[in-house]
Amino acid sequence: MISLTSKNPAQLAVDALVVAVRPRGSAVGAVSADWLPKELVQLLARDAKRLGITGAVDEVRRLPGTGIKATTIVVTGVGDAPLDGSPAGREALRRAAGAATRELAGLESVALALPTPDAASVGAVAEGALLGAYAFSRYHSLHDAPVSRVELVTDRDRDKAAQEALARAEVVAAAVHATRDLVNTAPNDLYPAVFADEAKTATKGVKGVKVTVLDEKALAGGGYGGLVGVGQGSARPPRLVRVAYAPSKPRATVALVGKGITFDSGGISIKPAAGMEAMKSDMAGAAAVLHTVVAAARLGLPVAVTGWLCLAENMPSGTAQRPSDVITIRGGTTVEVLNTDAEGRLVMADGLVAALEEKPDVVLDIATLTGAQVVALGHRVSAVMGTDDARERVVAAAGESGELFWPMPLPDELRAGLKSKIADIANIGERWGGMLSAGVFLREFVGESSWAHLDIAGPAFNEKSAHDYTPVGGTGVGVRTLLALIESYA
Ligand code: BES
Ligand code: MN
Ligand code: ZN
Repeated sequence: MISLTSKNPAQLAVDALVVAVRPRGSAVGAVSADWLPKELVQLLARDAKRLGITGAVDEVRRLPGTGIKATTIVVTGVGDAPLDGSPAGREALRRAAGAATRELAGLESVALALPTPDAASVGAVAEGALLGAYAFSRYHSLHDAPVSRVELVTDRDRDKAAQEALARAEVVAAAVHATRDLVNTAPNDLYPAVFADEAKTATKGVKGVKVTVLDEKALAGGGYGGLVGVGQGSARPPRLVRVAYAPSKPRATVALVGKGITFDSGGISIKPAAGMEAMKSDMAGAAAVLHTVVAAARLGLPVAVTGWLCLAENMPSGTAQRPSDVITIRGGTTVEVLNTDAEGRLVMADGLVAALEEKPDVVLDIATLTGAQVVALGHRVSAVMGTDDARERVVAAAGESGELFWPMPLPDELRAGLKSKIADIANIGERWGGMLSAGVFLREFVGESSWAHLDIAGPAFNEKSAHDYTPVGGTGVGVRTLLALIESYA
């Protein structure tokens, strides 16, 4: 639960009161905290060094709540970003708020008195606070419960735009949380049929949304050779799920295609055992698509959004596809499967073709597609490729939302590496630039359409430690960017 208040924060009866601090030369200053007892302000300015407080991003410290009603005062670093409502400033607030609520797990109520220079900044603080207050507790209850009550201190509490920003933040955070939950769910509990059911559950009662599920028979009958080929090694058959949000007078039509490999063992081209467990997260794209559609519908955006979830489990078995198999993607393109571990592009090809049959204004695909993406950009920056217009639009939307997406090229010469001796195209290309080759492969299926391909292989799953509003495990990356992009058409 989150609410706005313009009460004197020193008087709030909460477990913790959070204020922002930033580096200021050798001293450290609390930001917009003139209501704090003088002793506390002096303590911060004078003794920050002694207390080890620097004001850096992701630094959270607790001090006794001397002279205020809250039990503890918590300082959260905002670094040097200008807190002026700019995208960088809003992201600094989002991170500072998220680092605080994440660090304060186990407490019940928290008040955040961070700077809110405009309504959008109110939204950013709210979003960060909610994103940081997350825990995945399906399988154990040993961890601290996330903060459940957040009071956001701002003199904009009666401002309509600020209230709307707060409401949007709640929808966004719910979508990101739900995406994380799906990614974190064990693959024995989340396989294609279950994922399809989840799509129905998640959209139940959401106005204007319709779910259609193609099962393995329908997929075979419909010529979806990518989904059938990848899914045939598993005892858990594939699904293609269409989740459509259709408002009455849409200003544009956006299609989203998500990779939903509920577990990627590599298939017959099996992966090494070390680290394979992370491949439960190979459905993060589909999860982001599902909950982006839900969020767009809950916000009632005047944009039609159709999500396509390409769901399969990639397993080795007596029925699995083999390296050298030739499959036919929906629409007729034949693919020689030279490596069964390059399965994502096969299911995504089917999804892209299906999406484009409805002639959307733009199609975005999102996938944990290549290890090469992680090599190129690491664990915190995603890649975006595609046609110039769509790619630039994604970069702009990412900037607005605070997610990190970096533009990458699709060099024509990489097409030669994908040549097959016996089919239209092979599913692997040149070794170097593997992320780009995968993008060039997908381009084969989008024709003249406006299209962007988002590779989130690194950022989708956090195997290291939590930071700012990002927990360990599923991160929910992509939801905020896709939603901002949809809003750019509204
Ligand atoms: N799901 C993987 C990509 C991946 C790797 C995602 C690491 C997240 C972290 C994908 O299906 C895959 O296995 N790609 C292969 C392609 C190769 C065989 C051409 C890869 O990147 O190694
Ligand atoms: Mn793979
Ligand atoms: Zn994969």
